[in-house]
Amino acid sequence: ARLAILLSGRGSNMVALVNAVQSGVLQHLAEVAVVFSNKPDAPGLETAAALGCPTASLTSQGRKRQEFDAEVVQVLQQFQPDYIVLAGYMRILSPTFIRAFAGRILNIHPADTHQHQGLHAYEWAFENQLKETKITVHLVDEGLDTGPILAQHPVDLQGAGTLEEVERRGLAVEHFLYADTLARLIRGELSNLNSDPAATTVAA
Ligand code: GRF
Repeated sequence: ARLAILLSGRGSNMVALVNAVQSGVLQHLAEVAVVFSNKPDAPGLETAAALGCPTASLTSQGRKRQEFDAEVVQVLQQFQPDYIVLAGYMRILSPTFIRAFAGRILNIHPADTHQHQGLHAYEWAFENQLKETKITVHLVDEGLDTGPILAQHPVDLQGAGTLEEVERRGLAVEHFLYADTLARLIRGELSNLNSDPAATTVAA
């Protein structure tokens, strides 16, 4: 399967995915068709190029969402992706974008999407002193962090005294869960998506 990985920042999930493609659970299953950013100066874009990935970018600053997304769709289609993998892509996707790749867009959210949506999920877990949070990989629909859940995995937060520690533990889970879930999806092991939503939650 051909992956288009979209990011706006640091790109640690992108790195984990590239490693999984090159020598991990996604080897022989996936290739990175392109790493795309809406921020031409995103650190993750440079990292992707250094890892040997094709890269592309279009600046979203000052652009109307709909128009910008239509252009992004055109750029991405040139790379013929099977899946659009959001990895810290800090844009809400317009219906134009979602319909172009319907059912093939994945996101990773650093909380249980039933409990928390949007930004600052690790801060939310830390401030509420959660003993445990969950990382969620889900399909993207037209809502904010509302799409069908593909996988969730718990993060033990007991004794995590700082926000940095919460993030460190969470990212360690993010980095294996995203690649693992994509591997299951590509192998056709997550094919019951249209039935009972509860039955689609896969423990990794
Ligand atoms: C991650 O915490 C991810 O779950 C969220 O944005 C962050 C991106 O981090 N959607 P990175 O750029 O992959 O390091």
